[in-house]
Parts: sequence; structure tokens; C-alpha cells
Amino acid sequence: MIKNTELIDLPCWSDSYGSLTAIEELDTVPFDIKRIYYIFDVGAQVRRGFHSHQDLEQLLICVSGSVDILIEDDERSETVTLDSPTRGLYIGPMVWREMFSFSENTVLLVLASKHYIDTEYERNHGIFLVSAREYYQQQGEYII
Ligand code: TYD
Repeated sequence: MIKNTELIDLPCWSDSYGSLTAIEELDTVPFDIKRIYYIFDVGAQVRRGFHSHQDLEQLLICVSGSVDILIEDDERSETVTLDSPTRGLYIGPMVWREMFSFSENTVLLVLASKHYIDTEYERNHGIFLVSAREYYQQQGEYII
């Protein structure tokens, strides 16, 4: 898996009345939830995202439909398909992400650890790679 990312299985209660999934901060997700947003009405040909964050944690859940998420650290990239309301993709700091192949009626729910601050976006892929190499190198230095 790409560094600072993880697929998280969410608890689900299903019975003859239907299904329910609940998410609690610091339990189901490893951070305080400060912001919630959702992305919907996205055309099939659209590709969006194209950024990373230096200090933001997020959990992406495709509550309806399906979407492909490209995630990339300083070394590798991988595409994860989100197509279940009971599976979340955790994305921590210094991970580049792109979202594409939205199916019709896809709703991508995002829980975030901080309020929206436009200046915390890195939208230049070249700068992301340089910063990510430094960041993960420093992280490695702490591992004995
Ligand atoms: P953006 O993050 O650029 O979308 P994506 O990365 O999925 O392509 O956000 C699109 C617009 O929405 C942009 O003008 C900023 C605004 N926005 C907010 O005001 N608050 C938020 O929490 C988010 C995520 C976006």
C-alpha cells in the first residue's frame, strides 16, 4: 500500500430493514473529524483532485456508486476502486490523489481532520514529489 494510506473496513449493521454504518472519530477513523464534504454529479470523463496536503488526514467513502482513486507517495502510485459504503480509504499527509471513473450517481463522502484552508493544497506534482521525498526521508530517520 502507498505510504500514509490504508483501507479501513467500516462496521455495518444489516438486517431485514436494511443496513447502517456508523463512524466515530478516534475510533473508526484515527483523527478528529473537523469537516465533512461530499462530491457528486461528476461526469464519467472527469478527473479531479490533483493535489496533496502537508498536514491533513481524510477518510474517503464512496457511499453510492463507484470511483477510482489514484494515490501516490514519493516512490509509487496505485489505483484503488471504492465501490462500497462499508469501506473507507484513509489518506494521510503527503499523498497525491486523483479521482476518476465516477459512475452515475456516485456520492463520494470525505471526512477531514481540519477545516478548509486553500493554501494547504499542493497542486504542483513536481513540487509534491520533491517535498514528499524530504518528508518520507525525515520519517525514515526516526525509525531505528
Ligand atoms: P477542490 O478541493 O479543488 O476539489 P477537487 O480536489 O475534488 O477537485 O474543491 C473544489 C471547490 O470547492 C474549490 O473552489 C474549493 C471548494 N471547497 C470548499 O470551499 N471547502 C471544502 O472543504 C472543499 C474540499 C472545497
